[in-house]
Amino acid sequence: MDTRFLQPSYIELDKNALTNNIRFLKARAKNGVRISSVIKGNAYGHGISAFLPIAEEAGIDHFSVFSANEAYAALNHRKNPATKVMIMGMIRDEELEWAVENGIEFYLFEHERLEAAAETARKVGKRAQVHLQIETGMNRTGFDEPEWDGLFSYVHKNKELIHLCGICTHFAGAESVANYYRVQNQEKELKKAVNVAGGILDLPAIHASSSAAYLTYPEKHFDMARIGIAQYGFWPSRETYMHHMKTENLEQGEDPLKRVLTWKSEIMSLKQVEGGDFIGYGNVFLAGRDMRIATVPIGYTHGFGRNLTNTGYVLINGIRCGVVGLVNMNMITVNVSHIANAKKGDEVVLIGRQGEDEITVASFGEMTNNLNYEVLTRLPSSIPRVIC
Ligand SMILES: Cc1ncc(COP(=O)(O)O)c(C=O)c1O
Repeated sequence: MDTRFLQPSYIELDKNALTNNIRFLKARAKNGVRISSVIKGNAYGHGISAFLPIAEEAGIDHFSVFSANEAYAALNHRKNPATKVMIMGMIRDEELEWAVENGIEFYLFEHERLEAAAETARKVGKRAQVHLQIETGMNRTGFDEPEWDGLFSYVHKNKELIHLCGICTHFAGAESVANYYRVQNQEKELKKAVNVAGGILDLPAIHASSSAAYLTYPEKHFDMARIGIAQYGFWPSRETYMHHMKTENLEQGEDPLKRVLTWKSEIMSLKQVEGGDFIGYGNVFLAGRDMRIATVPIGYTHGFGRNLTNTGYVLINGIRCGVVGLVNMNMITVNVSHIANAKKGDEVVLIGRQGEDEITVASFGEMTNNLNYEVLTRLPSSIPRVIC
């Protein structure tokens, strides 16, 4: 049975949009800069299992996740055995053996974990694939400068156990010009660390940029970039978008990135309501006149937040319809008085395009005070993802 029928709403992933975005992103870099597709947070809500194979088809052969459980999902859904998976954050000692056995690359930012990785490699009989994360000014995770010499010497001495895949950092706040000097200083620190490493061992891939830095600072691409939000068709910030528009001399409204995700449901039922009656729970919405109301079977359990009560919009027949009354756990009521031919079963777009209009993730986020990133990653993993 088509998995779409298991749930009252589903998410469509547009493969052509993704191919377009990857092509656009690859064209921004010099030859040889590798793109690692960041698929943490269930591929930013797009769903690892659905997204990973279409990203592979679009030419991606390296994926970045946050934790070992996400790496496990990525490994199970890759089609190409040569595709690499890298953990940028959480890996427990007891997960190391699995990671080493399966050739999973992982960040190291503590000496104890480095020693544990070497020990595990000895036990498993396979080299650990590691990326050393350098502290350059984000102050989250990373080896501090006084540790660098000892760190690189340890890795060099243990090269039979440790394969150094990368030296990396994370440019913090590249999506805003306000952080310009912070990013410059981070780059200087990274280069200092690379210099120290270069005196001790053969240099691996260097990587530091996520979408914003990649799109704003082409001179800082190094060997690999970890791209999340942009591959899904979103600009990391308005500033990054405007920077691109200006440097490329593009016309207002042009957008080389295409949104990959559309969230859809359908009209479950229709009802005529008399002016003067309340709609839904309590007295949150009073019909000021006779109205035609459609119920849509999605609610806060599906990620359509209660704060969209009387505020949110959906698209039906390409026309914007306002949410009236409280968002329930499983249902919303929307005003379709202005759509004469609205009928049961009609497609309802919650996020995405229908006809000439679009409910953007950004507008959805503004209505709920959430960032693009947050709106996307909050989409429940139980909603079926369908490729189109
Ligand atoms: C270490 C690291 N690299 C890359 C990314 C991707 O960022 P973006 O989605 O802005 O491209 C993230 C996301 O937060 C991250 O934490």
